[in-house]
Amino acid sequence: MSFDFTTKAVFVMGGTSGINLGIAQGFASAGARVAVASRSQDKVDAAVASLGPNALGFSVDVRDADAVADVLAKAKAAFDQPIDVLISGAAGNFPAAAKDLSANGFKAVVDIDLQGTYNVMKGAYPHLARPGCIINISAPQAYVPMALQAHVCAAKAGVDMITRTLAMEWGPEGIRVNSLVPGPIAGTEGMARLAPTPELMSMVEGSVPLKRNGSPEDLANAALFLASPLASYISGVVLPVDGGWSLAGVSYAMDNIAKLLGSPR
Ligand code: NAP
Ligand code: COA
Repeated sequence: MSFDFTTKAVFVMGGTSGINLGIAQGFASAGARVAVASRSQDKVDAAVASLGPNALGFSVDVRDADAVADVLAKAKAAFDQPIDVLISGAAGNFPAAAKDLSANGFKAVVDIDLQGTYNVMKGAYPHLARPGCIINISAPQAYVPMALQAHVCAAKAGVDMITRTLAMEWGPEGIRVNSLVPGPIAGTEGMARLAPTPELMSMVEGSVPLKRNGSPEDLANAALFLASPLASYISGVVLPVDGGWSLAGVSYAMDNIAKLLGSPR
């Protein structure tokens, strides 16, 4: 099925690599004008080049609320129209036992994933189209406790509650807010950090009911659907795109990863 997003403006925070870049590419292929943003100017430049001549790019740290708001205002001005679709997917992750994690290590992830998501949504609010659509990129850690992931579990659970809360606050203005929850997505930085060997990757794959790891395109397809008129009555939803992984496989897989990475469990 193909979607038509010509005339639409899409902003993807954290859209310069991995899953979020895949989502940006999905919208660009559907005809949208796309802007991506992240910290590294090199990654921004490479992503913009891959997205085509109409793409925009901004270098910004999602933890800097004023800078994020400024970038969103600049994107709207450059689009010369309000932002129809906002994707918030910047995140940081590393495996660490809570007993060994410093206060600043915990804070770094909460600041990027949770405070950053709030900064993006708040900064975008004056520049969003009505009707408009926000998609936050969550993770299974939001609802499945995982060893070595206390910082990520706390941050992503918060992301999903912001999704639900602002779906209520902003719904009356025609702004839909949903979360997408990727399962294990092959070839990404996130999986490289959590399953750093081929053995771990195939063990994770074996725990997915559909027996394959996902691709950024799987997430792009779900994002296109959620942003399309077909989803015009869907808001406040946390949608796994994970081959059924969160039904049973996550705990199994993560327990084994934790053992192999040296957790005390
Ligand atoms: P990734 O390639 O590392 O993507 C993270 C993006 O966020 C990059 O563009 C990165 O670019 C940007 N970023 C990081 N810190 C930032 C900051 N402080 N300010 C602005 N931008 C920042 O990772 P990924 O694995 O594709 O993950 C993408 C999303 O999917 C994340 O939200 C992650 O939690 C979620 N997820 C991934 C998986 C998976 O299997 N990979 C599973 C579940 C959920 P810069 O370095 O240039 O800043
Ligand atoms: N284990 C334990 N603590 C770690 C860690 C690890 N592997 N990596 C970083 N930390 C701690 C640091 O020691 C520091 O705490 P300290 O000041 O008490 O020493 C704190 O986290 C912040 O580290 P810093 O390197 O200054 O943070 P940063 O803002 O430059 O980078 C990260 C943020 C740490 C999340 C970094 O991994 C990152 O930029 N990630 C983005 C890409 C990514 O994670 N992609 C996957 C998305 S799912």
